[in-house]
Amino acid sequence: MYINFWYAAERSGKLAADAPIRVRMLSHEFVLFRDSKGKAHCLSDTCIHRGAALSGGKIKGDCVQCPYHGWQYNGDGRCVNIPSLGPEGRTKVPPRGQVDAYPTEERYGLIFVFLGDLPEQERPPIMPIPEWDKDGWRASAAMDYHWDANYERAVENGLDPAHNEFVHPTHGYSGEREGYKVNELRFEQHEHGFSFVHTFQAPPLKNWIMKRIRNYDGPLDVGTGHHGPNGLYTYIHLTPTKWFHQYVWETPVDEHYLRTFLVSLRNCIIPKNKWLLGIADKQTDKRNFAIAEQDRVVIEKLDPVCTPAERSTRELLMPADKAILLYRERLEQWDAKGWRIDADELKRMHAKRNVVYAIPSPARRESKTWVLDPVPLVEPKPAAQPLRAVGA
Ligand code: FES
Ligand SMILES: [Fe+2]
Repeated sequence: MYINFWYAAERSGKLAADAPIRVRMLSHEFVLFRDSKGKAHCLSDTCIHRGAALSGGKIKGDCVQCPYHGWQYNGDGRCVNIPSLGPEGRTKVPPRGQVDAYPTEERYGLIFVFLGDLPEQERPPIMPIPEWDKDGWRASAAMDYHWDANYERAVENGLDPAHNEFVHPTHGYSGEREGYKVNELRFEQHEHGFSFVHTFQAPPLKNWIMKRIRNYDGPLDVGTGHHGPNGLYTYIHLTPTKWFHQYVWETPVDEHYLRTFLVSLRNCIIPKNKWLLGIADKQTDKRNFAIAEQDRVVIEKLDPVCTPAERSTRELLMPADKAILLYRERLEQWDAKGWRIDADELKRMHAKRNVVYAIPSPARRESKTWVLDPVPLVEPKPAAQPLRAVGA
């Protein structure tokens, strides 16, 4: 798990104007709330007075009010009111009266939070959706679901061209086709990740809507890529002109549990009639969820839950796993920047039950007066030699 990336925290529609909510990401608790103008904010959820969860409190104007003794924090994380000091002194808050506040942006029907301390100009951007609002494209509402799995395993699954044949009957022949193989992967490198295109043989679609698009056996192009450690996109070109593009944010709740946020777009099955359009959206969501379920049953049982510590010797990788290796090499680049959370140390300290940390926010670069220590990070070390698959 890494600091210094944007994470999808919640669907926009889930955050009401009048009630804060608690969200767990990167093994830490956060509070999301809206100010009087409706702008979403994200703070560390631990009140620095005596540790109550701010998310259990109320909205007061532009602040969230702690449920325990009523301290009020604004969207910048500043405590602006300590009621126990009385009417004369309640706004005289000491400099340490602040919690971490994280840059927050609503886009694509989701609330994104930048969990890290980088200044604005150095932050890797939110994974863009170029088709969003483009003529001829239709986005169905963002979906989310939970898996008992490590988020990097889920990203690797998305970057794995060999599983489609066996896991997804809609994309493959369940291993029953003579001559099956993974074809060449055509890679492209990008600033925050890479992508590749894979052409493979796929059967006709069976669903009553989908078979109107593709009712033949033949080649199918799938483009896949990642953006940062937690963003993934898949372009399924069912025919040369009928396309489905999916954007997925894998949010690590902790090392063993994830939330997936999915925004699905298509340039086909967009009836003019509103009622039919609603049905088409529902069918698309249903299909996406069914496909994710096919993945879930496999990914939740991967052992070990996270990728093996000695990766090069505890797996036997093939050329079809090349994208997995490249993704791990990218992770090592972020390790080298010192952005990886020290999950072992975190677990050890949390087991004591008398320590809580905060993910460092950008304000920590300016101010040194904080009550909570920042989360322990793994000491940066240079990226290791590239990992290689057998025959790659
Ligand atoms: S614990 Fe929050 S006000 Fe006391
Ligand atoms: Fe899959």
